[in-house]
Amino acid sequence: MSHTEDHEGTRRDFLYYATAGAGAVAAGAVVWPLVNQMNPSADVRALSSIRVDVSGLEIGSQLTVKWLGKPVFIRRRTETEIEEGRAVEMSQLVDPVARNANIDGGADASDANRTLDENGEWLVMMGVCTHLGCVPLGDGAGEYDGWFCPCHGSHYDTAGRIRKGPAPENLPVPPAEFVDETTILLG
Ligand code: FES
Repeated sequence: MSHTEDHEGTRRDFLYYATAGAGAVAAGAVVWPLVNQMNPSADVRALSSIRVDVSGLEIGSQLTVKWLGKPVFIRRRTETEIEEGRAVEMSQLVDPVARNANIDGGADASDANRTLDENGEWLVMMGVCTHLGCVPLGDGAGEYDGWFCPCHGSHYDTAGRIRKGPAPENLPVPPAEFVDETTILLG
């Protein structure tokens, strides 16, 4: 092999790896909403479960935990947030589907169908914008007092439902349940 061929080989390798790397990043950002709709088998779910202690979470605050490599928002909603969420008619919603892994897939996106408990105090959702996968800002952000994704301006309401902007779907609610008064099991 001549010196020149050797050099070109090295350069080709470099370009190949650089392209593969960029592709992986782009796929990571957009692929997740599809992954969420797949239904992993029970054994896969068991392996990927985590327990979250929410005893320190005050009303009106939220916690972000990492689950399966993605952020999950756990919010303990105020009375006002609950009332705002419950006052919304389905006809006002961009995406009228619950997107809640814990209930029937065809259920509507009423506030009650989005929350973990009957009082509507606890809201658990993937912290991944359904547009292109950015992490929305919380704590009453955006025009609907819920979450706001600054990447392209998507506004989510107090139940994490998309209300304005390019995101097509509500923030998905992952498999979650209270296993005791202060512990949420994710997955
Ligand atoms: S990724 Fe959130 S608005 Fe585009």
